[in-house]
Amino acid sequence: MSAATAIAHANIALVKYWGKRDATLNLPAAGSLSLTLDALTTTTTVEFGDAQADELSIDGKPASESAVARFSAWLDLVRTRAGIDARARVASTNNFPTASGLASSASAYAAAAVAASRAAGLSLQPFELSVLARRGSGSAARSIFGGFAMMNVGTRPDGSDAYAEPVPFADDWPVRMVIAVVGGGVKKDVSSRDAMDHCAKTSVLYDGWLRSVPGDLAAARVAIGRRDLVALGEVTAHSALTMHASAFAARPAVIFFRPATLECLLRVQALAKQEQVPAYCTMDAGPHVKVLTLADHVPRVSECLAGVQGVTRVIETGPGQGAQLIGTP
Ligand code: PMV
Repeated sequence: MSAATAIAHANIALVKYWGKRDATLNLPAAGSLSLTLDALTTTTTVEFGDAQADELSIDGKPASESAVARFSAWLDLVRTRAGIDARARVASTNNFPTASGLASSASAYAAAAVAASRAAGLSLQPFELSVLARRGSGSAARSIFGGFAMMNVGTRPDGSDAYAEPVPFADDWPVRMVIAVVGGGVKKDVSSRDAMDHCAKTSVLYDGWLRSVPGDLAAARVAIGRRDLVALGEVTAHSALTMHASAFAARPAVIFFRPATLECLLRVQALAKQEQVPAYCTMDAGPHVKVLTLADHVPRVSECLAGVQGVTRVIETGPGQGAQLIGTP
């Protein structure tokens, strides 16, 4: 019997990942770039032992059959690599709503990669952990690292070069993210996985979306290097709306926006224009709005979002650390 516990932080993509080039290996069709967030965490304990089948609990409750099946298939990758056969007991806890568009699968599979590999007796390099996390969820590859992380699209057919890497940045740059939770953080009806697949198959705007990614990635990297929040924010807003435009144009359309989502976007845009507050929105496969800004402007941005009807909570956060082991009992 061996066990390990790890903690990982969720990340929000500034240049989005939306579409795969290989579903089996979970390889992205393009690169992406994200900010790992201090306030959103998953803590996961993996214990290989004498259980008959893998067991998974999320936030203290047994996970659904489909979630267990998906997780079990992913654990097989760890077992095969470690040459073990034991089933695992896994307990995962989030300090924020699960599967609602707040990147819980990113922190979940990053924490699981660190905990499961250690519990299985493996000692993996960060890039190998990133590849392993990617097999569970594309965005999880980035949560292995703290701060800004860039996911490489990779070219090898086996996906061994499709991993994330940290993007160096000045650690006194006071970058912040303010998150407007819309509608109480209820579970979303369609997973990112299904939605991106549907867009790739049916949206006339999907090719245009893919073509927009390399330029946005390059611009984001330059902006981070120059500590230029305005340039980074413009890319962030552009990437999110281009991704959502491809979703609107799918058949049938995939619409993650709720009225409060749009109201947040408009208010933040007005804040930037009328009060010169550097604030830029991004949204994922859910209704929540995440606003990139600087520390001095957090109170004003929070106030603006909290006043929107339908916003049930506002979370203020800064850059978080990479996934790490917190215990091996
Ligand atoms: O990692 P997945 O399969 O949950 O997909 C994440 C997709 C987005 O959150 C919409 C974008 C991203 O890059 O995180």
